[in-house]
Amino acid sequence: MIIMNKPYSESCDQNKEPILAVILPVFSSLSSVLEIGSGTGQHAIYFAENMPHLKWYTSDCRSYLAGINMWLDDAGLPNVLPPFELNVTESSWPKLDVDAVFTANSIHIMSQQDVLNFMSGVGNLLAEQGELMIYGPFNYNGQYTSSSNESFDQWLKSRDPLSGIKHFEDMVALANKNRMQLVADHAMPANNRILHFKKV
Ligand SMILES: C[S@@+](CC[C@H](N)C(=O)[O-])C[C@H]1O[C@@H](n2cnc3c(N)ncnc32)[C@H](O)[C@@H]1O
Repeated sequence: MIIMNKPYSESCDQNKEPILAVILPVFSSLSSVLEIGSGTGQHAIYFAENMPHLKWYTSDCRSYLAGINMWLDDAGLPNVLPPFELNVTESSWPKLDVDAVFTANSIHIMSQQDVLNFMSGVGNLLAEQGELMIYGPFNYNGQYTSSSNESFDQWLKSRDPLSGIKHFEDMVALANKNRMQLVADHAMPANNRILHFKKV
């Protein structure tokens, strides 16, 4: 029998409060959010606890689902849904009626093709006025915003040459192509951003 330890991400603990401060004003009038790449499930628990009016859907690639379930089981929150498998490379996504999509620290793990699929999938999923919030590092004008992001990008590419920090301008162009417009670009601690898009 394989016994699995509950996964833990220190960065989730560090960034959850600043992320909440940005997403709360937008999500306060919404009913439901799909999180893509829920990871450990820690963000889902924290955001659902702090926004009890929301139905928070968790999702990720198959290997993450058991860990997310451990966090959900321990928290016992009524407004977080059990994780379902969603790899953005799949051509058909589950049909969900959600007001927003949230993802954290997933875009730099994905290849450029995965990001194309992500943006197209989110554009198809959201109805007009739907919100998309993306947390993570981005490059601007082809430049890193810090030497730590540059080292991080090199480390990412040494693990997977197709992964890496994406360009802000490409994200905006891809969003536009999929009927979403940039509403805000928030500076976050540790050289991260939150890109806020809205479906038009
Ligand atoms: C660095 S972890 C971040 C997890 C969590 N969101 C956080 O902030 O701690 C990257 C996440 O992106 C997810 N991810 C990477 N590629 C993906 C894909 N093609 N489809 C869906 N999720 C993906 C991973 O499975 C993982 O959960």
